[in-house]
This record gives sequence, structure tokens and C-alpha cells, in this order.
Amino acid sequence: MSRIQRPRGMQDFIPPTSDIMEILVNRIADLFRSYGYRKIDTPILEHTELFMRLGETTDVVQKEMYTFMDRKGRSLTLRPELTAPVVRAYLELKEKPPLPVRYYYVGPIFRYERPQRGRYRQAHQFGIEVLGDDKPEIDLEVIYLAYRVYSELGLSELEVSVNSIGCPQCRHRFRDVLLKYLQPMREQLCNDCKVRIDKNPLRVLDCKVDRDKLSDAPRPIDYLCDECREHFQRLLELLNKAGIPYQIDHKLVRGLDYYNRTVFEIRTQINSRVLDLAGGGRYDYLASELEPKVNLPGCGFAGGLERLYMLLEESGKLPEAPEIFLLIAPLTPTAKDKVVELLNKLKPERSRPLTIHWSARSLKSALKYADRINALNVAFIGQPELEAKRLKVRDMRTGKQVELEFDELRTLLEGGSEL
Ligand code: HAM
Repeated sequence: MSRIQRPRGMQDFIPPTSDIMEILVNRIADLFRSYGYRKIDTPILEHTELFMRLGETTDVVQKEMYTFMDRKGRSLTLRPELTAPVVRAYLELKEKPPLPVRYYYVGPIFRYERPQRGRYRQAHQFGIEVLGDDKPEIDLEVIYLAYRVYSELGLSELEVSVNSIGCPQCRHRFRDVLLKYLQPMREQLCNDCKVRIDKNPLRVLDCKVDRDKLSDAPRPIDYLCDECREHFQRLLELLNKAGIPYQIDHKLVRGLDYYNRTVFEIRTQINSRVLDLAGGGRYDYLASELEPKVNLPGCGFAGGLERLYMLLEESGKLPEAPEIFLLIAPLTPTAKDKVVELLNKLKPERSRPLTIHWSARSLKSALKYADRINALNVAFIGQPELEAKRLKVRDMRTGKQVELEFDELRTLLEGGSEL
């Protein structure tokens, strides 16, 4: 029988990768929290209908969803993104919080894509959504925080691209102009775009295959109504004020259909390949797709955790996972009793973790194990230490050894004393 392996395109995160992922997630969550965002968790499964309403012409909905029937014959889908679930969750609230409301999330998404480096079938997104305010200052806040995630982690080679695709009225006008431009070149376009022309011509603009053929394509911002143009102008002004380096990408329309006005992406280059790190924008009409007559503007972004990790790794900027600070090795049964007694008294910190080597057979074997797990210090307790009511602690890097009272161990773990 062959060994069972994990599903294709999905990853296990094991130490030290999982340690570092946790550090990253905590830092990102701290940033969002410090700007008044609060955590939202939604189910991993949703009714398929929720995502179908995002636009049946998008690749994510058409080709990439993990959809199945449950035991009662209901169609459920593993969430391919979190914006629609977040809006759905808000709409379901009986007691609505005051608007605007600011949420953040971190969690898995599922897309049946062709796996490659940086693209997985189970990936993790972190993101924010602001519901209930349609002003450009919110767009700025969202782009600012997206940018901060990366800059705070020491990443600076970022391209921030923004564009405006206007409201449904502007888009209607633009669509006509774009179709006139695209029709004569239909035969030169890729197969996907031949279908997109009829179903969703805007998506032709950001096709990775045909991009270069469309250098003189009409630009959405030239067809904006007055309000949409003002909104975009104001956003650009604010981006300048905030000192966020950006470029207007006239072909940026994004892969999901729910956007209006502002769309943006943060990208970088790795080995001359462009990598999308994060993307988002405004979605003032999404809520009304889910519940007619509801007016709930929204704006948000999501970034990929695996891609963030990949970029940090390539740039040599991964945070370090804390090493085991103290390995306690009781060398006799009575010493083990003593350690059990100590358990309640010791208060290890996250940054100074301790572990206990219950099965150490000798000082030599304890030191060997400490060396292999990179423990910084080893405290060993044998018969002589028990009798002297003091234990010995060895600094594994310098070999320096000190004697401590049992009570002093706690101070050491809390950073109060150094060896
Ligand atoms: P998205 O552009 O589809 O937007 O995904 C956002 C980010 O998630 C991407 O830039 C990428 O870093 C990561 N990502 C997506 N798919 C994968 C994958 N298969 N493997 C690895 N990483 C992936 C959204 O999902 C929108 N909900 C963003 C948003 C929030 N718009 C408004 N609010």
C-alpha cells in the first residue's frame, strides 16, 4: 500500500515554518487591531449561491471552486475568498454595530488552481473590510494598511497599482467603447479572452497573455462620471499625502466582479517574475447583490500569507522563531518530583520558552538533546543538586555554568537575571 499524502496544492506547516507563520500572523493582527479593526471569523463552508452572486464570469467562480453536495443534497463551497462571507455575516446580524464597522480576518481559502510556487489550492489570506462608508478616505486607509503590512516587515520593493473602474453607469459607457476597440482584434486574442469579450469585456484588459497587444486600449478613467472622477482624484491626493508610492495601472480591473470605483494591487518581482501580494478595492454594490435594497458600501483588501512568507524568505527578512530558552533535565525520579513541584511556580514567557526533558538518562544525554534542539540553556537537577537545594544552569553557547536557587529559576525565565 502506498503512503497517504496530503492533497495536491495543499501544504503542511511544521516548525520552524509554522512558528514563523504564527509570528507573522500576530504582527499583522496587532497592526490591524491597533487601527481599530476587530476579528471576524466566518465558516470555511458557505452556500454555493453566495459565491455565484459574485459574478459567474470570474475564473474563481467558474473554474476554481471546491463545490460539493452535503448529505441533504445542498450545494456547499469551500470559501475561495472572505469578502462575500464577511458581508453575508454582517447582513445576518440582528443587532447591527454602528457604521462604519471595521473587521479583520486571517484564514484559509480554497481555489482549484494549477499549483505552482506561490499558488496553492489551500492558501491563507489576511485582510480587512470596512463596511458602511463610501468615502475615498476609507480607500486610502485600506491601501495604507495593506502597504503597512509589508513595509513594517521590512519589505520595500513594492509596486502599488491603483485604478478606478467607476460605477455601473460609467462602466456601461466604457464597455461600449471597449467592445468597439476589441471586436476587430477578437481573432488575435487568447481563447479565454474570446469568451470574455462577450461575457465580461473589462476582464480582457488585465489578461496576462494579451496585455501587450492592448497597449492603446481605451482607459476606464477617461469614462468616469463626475462623482467617480472626484472620488478617484481625492484618493490620489490622499495617497500622495500619505507618502505611498503608487502608479495608476489603466489595465487593472481585478479578477472578482464585485468591485466599483477603486481597485488596487500590491505586487513585487521575484526572479523577474511578478508576484501579486495583495489586492482589493471598493465594492459598494456587493451587499445589494446578496440582499436587494440594502445600501452598504464596502472597501477592503486581502493579502496572501504564503506569498508574504516567500517574499520575506527571498529577501532574507524572515523573523526568527524563538529558540527553547531553557531545557530542564531532571536526572533522577526525585528530581522529577521536584520539577513537578516547580511547574506551578514557573511562568515561562512566549519569548523565553522552556521545555522539560523528562526522559534524560544522564547529564551527557541531556546536553546532547539540548544541542540538537538548539536550546540556549540547560538546567539539570541530579542528586547532588537536590541535596544542595540548588540547581546548575549551563549556557550552551559559552559553556558557562552557574548555580541557582530553585526560586531563582522563575526570575531567569522572566528575564530578570542573566546567566
Ligand atoms: P484576490 O486578489 O483574489 O482578492 O486574493 C488576494 C490575495 O490572496 C492575492 O493577492 C494572493 O496574494 C492571495 N491568493 C489568492 N489566491 C491564492 C492562491 N491560490 N495561492 C496563494 N495565494 C493566493 C480577494 O480574494 C479579495 N477578496 C480581496 C478583497 C478584500 N477585496 C476586497 N476586500
